[in-house]
Amino acid sequence: MSFIIETNQLTRRYRDFVAVDALDLCVPTGSVYGFLGPNGAGKTTTIRMLLGLITPSAGGIQLFSQPMTAKDRRSALRRVGALVEMPSLYPHLTGRQNLEVTRRLLEVPVNRIDHVLALVKLREVAGKRVREYSLGMKQRLGIALALLGQPDLLILDEPTNGLDPAGIHEVRDLIRTLPGELGITIFLSSHLLSEVEQIATHIGVINKGKLLFQGTLGALQAQHPAELRIGTRQPSAALEWLAKQHWSVESRDKALYVRSVNQADAAHINKGLIQAGLDVFHLTLEQPTLEQIFLQLTQQSGSESAQ
Ligand SMILES: Nc1ncnc2c1ncn2[C@@H]1O[C@H](COP(=O)(O)OP(=O)(O)O)[C@@H](O)[C@H]1O
Ligand SMILES: [Mg+2]
Repeated sequence: MSFIIETNQLTRRYRDFVAVDALDLCVPTGSVYGFLGPNGAGKTTTIRMLLGLITPSAGGIQLFSQPMTAKDRRSALRRVGALVEMPSLYPHLTGRQNLEVTRRLLEVPVNRIDHVLALVKLREVAGKRVREYSLGMKQRLGIALALLGQPDLLILDEPTNGLDPAGIHEVRDLIRTLPGELGITIFLSSHLLSEVEQIATHIGVINKGKLLFQGTLGALQAQHPAELRIGTRQPSAALEWLAKQHWSVESRDKALYVRSVNQADAAHINKGLIQAGLDVFHLTLEQPTLEQIFLQLTQQSGSESAQ
């Protein structure tokens, strides 16, 4: 597997504060990589280092398998399109005119403008002034700007932040179509797991500057086994029976939850409860959602550093 971005112990400090802490990112070429973390986790700081906007305090970055040194940075970054936080647009100019300004700077052919307008589905409103655009439209125009130079790698920092549900939907659909249509790699940050869950092939979870997990969604879920949800008319007797059998069990939301259970365990528990004379009216194996796993991960790392 080849990696389009690799970082080695990438670190950024602000005085004594470590905003990004020894990050080893591996972003596979061709992936949609979701860089997930709550506010303040260090996502934007990492992205700014990847884009050469700030310098690392320690560690290194490889883009396209080349070390990113001050000297070689420009040629590598020519192959990268980025949208960090809000796009900077001229509100009094039309969408097309905004693209034209950047097109001249990048010295790319005029026909790129229609191409990217079509990609982000803004052709019909390209003649309207940007101040009349919705936030979702502005964000898609920002993505169009990032795509003008035909990048191999698109870096988007919280592309759905601040959008209404319709805008989120538009931007998410757009991101989903891009790898297929353009064959590019997308690195996007988000604090919205539900967003990333639907489009990412790989994820990295960051909190307080530290990478807590990196890999596929499947690998993350495999690390977090299913729970068995049991509904019974005698919850306290059932709890007692399960504890006696050494299951890790807790009571919440009017049900019992047994941790780390597979199908065979579930059948075994079901039989045991019935043989013990208890009425079981509900039994399901529940795989935690990415959202629940993410909360668990970030809460754990939060409490560790508080100790
Ligand atoms: N220029 C700066 N000076 C001091 N602290 C900063 C600076 N930039 C970011 N930080 C701090 O670094 C941490 C990570 O910030 P950031 O990368 O913006 O997080 P995220 O994008 O994940 O929300 C935050 O605690 C933030 O306050
Ligand atoms: Mg940020």
